[in-house]
Amino acid sequence: MSEFPDTRLRRLREQPAIRSLIRETRLTTSSFVYPMFIRHGSGIKETIEPMPGCYHISLDLLAEEVQEIYSLGIPAVLLFGLPADKDPLGTEAYDPEGIIQEAIRIIKRTAPELMVIGDVCLCEYTDHGHCGVINNNYVDNDQTLELLGKTGLAQIQAGADMVAPSAMMDGQVRTIRETLDTSGYTNSPIMGYAAKYASSFYGPFRVAADSTPQFGDRRTYQMDPANARMAMREIETDISEGADVIMVKPALAYLDVIRQARDRFDLPLAAYNVSGEYSLVKAASQMGWVDEKPITMELLTAIQRAGADIIISYHAKEVAKWLQEK
Ligand code: PBG
Repeated sequence: MSEFPDTRLRRLREQPAIRSLIRETRLTTSSFVYPMFIRHGSGIKETIEPMPGCYHISLDLLAEEVQEIYSLGIPAVLLFGLPADKDPLGTEAYDPEGIIQEAIRIIKRTAPELMVIGDVCLCEYTDHGHCGVINNNYVDNDQTLELLGKTGLAQIQAGADMVAPSAMMDGQVRTIRETLDTSGYTNSPIMGYAAKYASSFYGPFRVAADSTPQFGDRRTYQMDPANARMAMREIETDISEGADVIMVKPALAYLDVIRQARDRFDLPLAAYNVSGEYSLVKAASQMGWVDEKPITMELLTAIQRAGADIIISYHAKEVAKWLQEK
């Protein structure tokens, strides 16, 4: 290997053009998914306090918002819903007239080519705020599966292009796959939230989705942040159950897990740049302590460099605009 002075790595950094030519990682709008929070009511487009730039949107204002997202070139949205009523079984999640099913129909009518991904979970819809059915103060895995299957099916029947189970119940991908297949939806893909950690970075989301558990926490079903090998087992399980796309969530504190997953599995890999990661950047930018655009682009580039094909991010709209600027 040649050394200095024969090798001068700065030669490749002399001008913007050469830096551009040799750039290994390029963010493009086409790899982003934009998450949205839909609620009942009318005329509502309210900022979610800990997530400046993100909104609660009512169905009547959804078309306008979706047109903007589609015209920015963002290929997909991921939907979360706030139900009219919460109950122990999260009934509105799988109600054919539920908030998300209504939203899916509106989006597919407005922008048929915009891909709609339904988040399949019960925590926004249950009065106790857990992701499944409660039995003796414990989230019952197997009783929850049927409801997740029904939720995935309701979303696909409403027109969703893909479903993404995030409840971290064992067997959720298999149950949803079987439910979809027996109803004839063999071509609807599943993105498994395969390696989802019990993370404090979900705090702002729980304000947005009103989904804070009313007792205990999610550590009996979401993963321990200390574990990376376990993430590989979770991903293997999702793949064997029929996942078409796998995910690591959160992203920034888990770049090592994204890299390991990329090296080990050949499925498309998504990374969820979650609410807390967004809020930290927004807060520090608003304080004037960091420069928002370059810091955001650097963080998102890191997620892609770690190996993510798909980046789910609340920054998606801003990134799309920034990428159009130059
Ligand atoms: C639902 C779900 C959560 C997130 C996505 N789907 C919250 C949770 O598990 O508590 C978090 C997303 C984010 O923080 O941006 N289970």
